[in-house]
Amino acid sequence: MCGIIGFIGKDDIANKIIFDGLKRLEYRGYDSVGIAVISGGNRLIVKKDAGKIGEVHSKLNFLEPKSNIAIGHVRWATHGAPTMENAHPHVDCSGDIAVVHNGVIENFLELKRELEDKGHRFRSRTDTEVIPHLIEDEIKAGRSLYEAVLHTVRRLKGSYAIAVISTFEPDKIICARNESPLIIGFSDNAFYCASDIPAILPYTRVFSSMDNGEIAILTVNGVEFKSISNGESISKKTFSVDWSIELAEKQGYPHFMLKEIHEQPLSLRNALRLQEQYLDLLARFIDRGERVFLVACGTSYHACLAASYMFSKIAKVAAFPVIASEFLEQYGEAIGIDDVMLAVSQSGETYDVLKAVDHARMKAATILGLTNTVGSTLTRVSRAYIVQQSGPEIGVAATKTFTAQLLVLAQLAMKVANLRGKLSQQESDFLRDNLRKMPDVIGEVLNSCEEKIKKLAKIYAKKNLFLFLGRGINVATALEGRLKLLEITYIPSLAFSAAESKHGPISIIESGIPVIFIAPRDSTRKDVIGNIMEMKARGAETIILCEEGDKELIELANHHIPMPKGIPEILTPIPYIIPLQLLAYYISVERGLDPDKPRNLAKSVTVP
Ligand code: F6R
Repeated sequence: MCGIIGFIGKDDIANKIIFDGLKRLEYRGYDSVGIAVISGGNRLIVKKDAGKIGEVHSKLNFLEPKSNIAIGHVRWATHGAPTMENAHPHVDCSGDIAVVHNGVIENFLELKRELEDKGHRFRSRTDTEVIPHLIEDEIKAGRSLYEAVLHTVRRLKGSYAIAVISTFEPDKIICARNESPLIIGFSDNAFYCASDIPAILPYTRVFSSMDNGEIAILTVNGVEFKSISNGESISKKTFSVDWSIELAEKQGYPHFMLKEIHEQPLSLRNALRLQEQYLDLLARFIDRGERVFLVACGTSYHACLAASYMFSKIAKVAAFPVIASEFLEQYGEAIGIDDVMLAVSQSGETYDVLKAVDHARMKAATILGLTNTVGSTLTRVSRAYIVQQSGPEIGVAATKTFTAQLLVLAQLAMKVANLRGKLSQQESDFLRDNLRKMPDVIGEVLNSCEEKIKKLAKIYAKKNLFLFLGRGINVATALEGRLKLLEITYIPSLAFSAAESKHGPISIIESGIPVIFIAPRDSTRKDVIGNIMEMKARGAETIILCEEGDKELIELANHHIPMPKGIPEILTPIPYIIPLQLLAYYISVERGLDPDKPRNLAKSVTVP
């Protein structure tokens, strides 16, 4: 996973725009960084190294020499270790062509062999480096830069979003896309390309998304889009976004993750402002579906798991939550024209999700999307989609986007339930009132539990194992709480239905192991109490999230986190995940880690 960015304009401001944009793209990868500029109209200067942007800039000074054209890259290694040689941009033999790339070139080994046989010298172990060398050959064969890139990308197998500059034609950037995200930004006599919108948000609010199979030529006079397959011009629509720049920055919080946890009342309010007509449209497709598959990865999968309980409990619809990477193996043969796939992806660009979607499309199933990203691939391949309106999420660990997904999915389940006549007026009103209250409820939970969680984080930061247990819909909460903890603290943790303990996991329990129970006053409470007893009897330390004043549970807890009373069962994961997000965050800080940049992880997983 990497981030790319490019700028061309009339003034010599490219370095600063690329440098600032790379800082905003850092969440996509941060093991190495680099930029390329054309200086004096005929010299290609590349500065790159392993390390975070600030460190590399203080060694190499990305801001000089000033130029009106530049490309940049932040890397998250897929081929080759994070070293200076493997950092992008990559250049051809003569150092006249520079390329930044996000994606994976599957046939790079055979291309590399062919190029080496022709005498090309490779400096890195990356898949990307074949691209500048292929372009070099095409230019030697007499092609223009655009034609050379076009002929090159036609030979690539795999995923790519690339930006190319060259001293041969120093007045243009050529971009191309297949399966990796790439957007183009427009402002007065200045044009941008980037892996995502926040990278260039301070400079423009008008964008176009490149689609798979498209190539673009950016000059100071404008942008021309063409088809890679036949070279014909394509007319593209633009769209505007109204995110504030402040929203994409930390706003005084020490980390994006904490800022984003605290943004949840706001993001939930936005998730309640969705246009009814889109919810209605999706609900009608779901209602008509023979079977419904809820497909996603990671945190978005946990939202799908919770949603399967929502659909079942209130709409009486069996919706199958499926981990996207398993979809083909699990249901690939079974899905068909009468089925509906609801793909949930914050980024709208997750490779495994898009792959499952492609397959389902091929089988003529109806594709629906839920995403946070306007113009993402998922929005373009869905028959109908909802954009959850959470604003940019920069912290690698998903927080505000999870609760917003849950709220959207709950609204959708309600719509389907109403269409099917499964809810009485009273039940419907009760749920609607509680949905509307959710932003305030989350505000209360944040206020009431944060100090207690900080103390718990101090007590438990040195533990080397945690268990998260819940039942019913809160199995999803347990799984998500566990994912938050392990991804940003690296503490091995387990999560499963509390009912499963006796089937094996209980054997690991010994004195002092912290076990976190998600135990609202719902239909599973009685059984959960039994599970808590089992754990206590074996010496576990219980941390229980339960309704305030729930004496029976409080007595069983070594520590308890009081939660608001009267939350309808299908909405409980929304407030109950909040203390678990905070716990993961504060334990990560206690352990001296950077919760925004967990090792080995990237925000958007756009490769297989
Ligand atoms: C965890 C996390 C990941 C993502 C997963 C799917 O905190 O962020 O597990 O949830 O990579 O990403 P999207 O939702 O963009 O498809």
